[in-house]
Amino acid sequence: MITIAAPNLGKEEIDAVNAVLESGMLAQGPQVAKLEEDFAAYCGTKFAVAFNSGTAAIHAALYAAGVGDGDEVITTSFSFMATINPILMLGAKPVLVDIKADDYNIDIAKIATAITPKTKAIMPVHLYGQPCDWAELQQLADKHKIMLIEDACQAIGATYDGKMTGALGAMGCFSLYATKNIMSGEGGVTTTDDEESVRLMKQFRQHGMSAQYEYVDLGYNYRMTDLHAAIAIEQLKKTDTFNATRVKNAEQLTNLLMEVKDIVLPTISPDRTHVFHQYTIRLTDEAGISRADFVAGLKEKGVGANIYYPKALHQYSHVQKLGYQDGDFPVAEQAGREVVSLPIHPKVTEEDIATIAEAIKTTLHG
Ligand SMILES: Cc1ncc(COP(=O)(O)O)c(C=O)c1O
Repeated sequence: MITIAAPNLGKEEIDAVNAVLESGMLAQGPQVAKLEEDFAAYCGTKFAVAFNSGTAAIHAALYAAGVGDGDEVITTSFSFMATINPILMLGAKPVLVDIKADDYNIDIAKIATAITPKTKAIMPVHLYGQPCDWAELQQLADKHKIMLIEDACQAIGATYDGKMTGALGAMGCFSLYATKNIMSGEGGVTTTDDEESVRLMKQFRQHGMSAQYEYVDLGYNYRMTDLHAAIAIEQLKKTDTFNATRVKNAEQLTNLLMEVKDIVLPTISPDRTHVFHQYTIRLTDEAGISRADFVAGLKEKGVGANIYYPKALHQYSHVQKLGYQDGDFPVAEQAGREVVSLPIHPKVTEEDIATIAEAIKTTLHG
């Protein structure tokens, strides 16, 4: 089976973990500090703070931004649930906005009407590894003096106008979950240039502690371990190589699928690079086959396709309690019905890409 994701670990990661095991310092320690330094240098920010998940990174970033009871955070209606759960956990409301059909990212033109006096931040997602329309977004945020926080969980190494994700907004949140472009099993990082945000995020990461056993606010245990950091340090060095292979695989797959009817291929919008965390196509109604049968057909042929995501965020019950209902964000809902992601990770070979293309053609058109 050509799986949708596969960890890409070498001797470097294994040696690094062994060294930590032998050091006797397993919890948050010097490896986490080194990862934070390296991550900030990679993204081009002054600081980075490591966490035990991308969800924790988002939660802490929103906390540092001062998001709390009664506030609103504007974000996309089409993402992983971890984009909006931290907003809810802080007592704030996710104000969802529809997406654009071409790149699946938040539709900037629809943000202005969502802004209210309660808007504390806008948190776009660079979905599938493609940065959203940052220039327009920045213009809007500057006009209304609203902070931008990136959910860059899927987009390490992607750029907009030559600038790295993570360095575009006031803060950028990354996931190091096992299937991501680089990973540590579980893990997350937030980047920023703002020292006060770093202080607040570190406090939040450690039970709301400002100094040894001085608790000044609520907080969690969101610490990363040195074991995880040791893996991430090695993975970070490989980011550009891994991403280049994803891009090459994506280009090759696009070339082979260009002429195939009834599917829509991913596109790259101007002024940015796409790191293809996912290579996502749409299966249109004209295909005459249900998406479930299409995915099952691919799996039978050894291709591990998957759906990211089957529903828009406002179609889940705990989000509908906020007053959202089906039909609110039609472009996101249609994406939820049509998208299918295909394997293009660095372990997918040229031969695999040919197999994937062939499997799609025969499943669709015999
Ligand atoms: C867009 C997005 N946001 C947030 C997250 C949460 O990251 P994690 O799974 O590391 O908590 C993920 C990844 O899973 C994601 O893809």
